[in-house]
Amino acid sequence: MLEYTLRTYQSPTRLVQRLGAIQELGSEASRLGMRRPLLVTDAGVKAAGLLEVALESLRRSDVEPVVFDKVRANPGVSLVDEGAAEYRSQGCDGLVAIGGGSSIDTAKGIGVVAAHKGSIVEYEWGHSPIESRIPPMIAVPTTAGTGSEVTLWAVITDPKRKIKFNVGGTPHIASWVAVIDPELTVKLPPPVTAGTGMDALAHAVECFTMSYHQPFTDAVALLAMEYVAKYLRVAFSQANNLEARYHMSAAAMLAGLAYGTDSAGAAHAMSQTAGGVHDAPHGALTARLLGPVMEYNHSGEPERFARMAAAFGLDVRGVSTWRAAEMAVEYVHELTRDVDIPSMQELGFGEDEIPMLADKAFADPQTIGNPRDVDAAAYRRIYKQAFDLGNKNGAR
Ligand SMILES: [Fe+2]
Repeated sequence: MLEYTLRTYQSPTRLVQRLGAIQELGSEASRLGMRRPLLVTDAGVKAAGLLEVALESLRRSDVEPVVFDKVRANPGVSLVDEGAAEYRSQGCDGLVAIGGGSSIDTAKGIGVVAAHKGSIVEYEWGHSPIESRIPPMIAVPTTAGTGSEVTLWAVITDPKRKIKFNVGGTPHIASWVAVIDPELTVKLPPPVTAGTGMDALAHAVECFTMSYHQPFTDAVALLAMEYVAKYLRVAFSQANNLEARYHMSAAAMLAGLAYGTDSAGAAHAMSQTAGGVHDAPHGALTARLLGPVMEYNHSGEPERFARMAAAFGLDVRGVSTWRAAEMAVEYVHELTRDVDIPSMQELGFGEDEIPMLADKAFADPQTIGNPRDVDAAAYRRIYKQAFDLGNKNGAR
């Protein structure tokens, strides 16, 4: 389809990447003029010994951070506001986020409040505009999934409304530097490797098939899909396989570049709204929904789905477009099974919640641009399939 809608692309994030890139953290912080950044992280990163490695690198460059290690999964409004208060009272001059999407999104949120005023809840997309750039920020991902180190978004949970909301959509919220060190991901337990890796795949798939795609995002999304197809099972099976970890970190970053200047799609409309209802891991939940969403969507963009089959490494020579599109869907169902993605019930949901969950997903702005027209009834149908497939897989 030829494109008449104006598309733009802008990423202000400097990429610093290699095995062992964490050793560059101090010099990168120093380059940005940081002396006393707020280091945003969580207890898991600390327990894995990664905080200590980061502190050593920072101190070698005479950067002494204030550690804020209260981040938890699905970070909420009060956590971000508390971090911003800490940033101000400690006289910080930058942000360093070490962790998964939760730590990086929390730091972005703290940056937004620090650069403006009030509470992060005021900066929900479509409300108060983000007029100033966040303070200098370095993101150090310790998972390979969200791509938050390069996206223009932070996802924050509002427990009062039981929803997750998006903040951003502007380069002002982006991290100034992303230090991508695949060695930091070798201690991830297999279920986290699986869920976060499938989340990266979902970003690539959703961006490639949504109406807002453009040549640049197509290119990075397809390479992200190739890497996930080739390396996710290996990283899941061999935690210390650095080749697999390297390419999964690259896949997460590339998929982040693909979807990160716009939004994701129906699987994310579903997983983000559901994640506001029950405190389930974003990656696993998105993974559980991706296959059913693709099965529903593939008839809307058959050629794009067929192209994804080739990116997954499937032999589509002599195969019709329709059949290749179906093969792409079947492949993602298989991958979901192979990496043991939990069922909807294991993630804390009950089938009686389907109508409520479907209504919430339909109200989410990420539904706009979906490759196939979708309404609340369609979301109910997709949810039902996600429950059914998970139950079947549960026997494994
Ligand atoms: Fe995601």
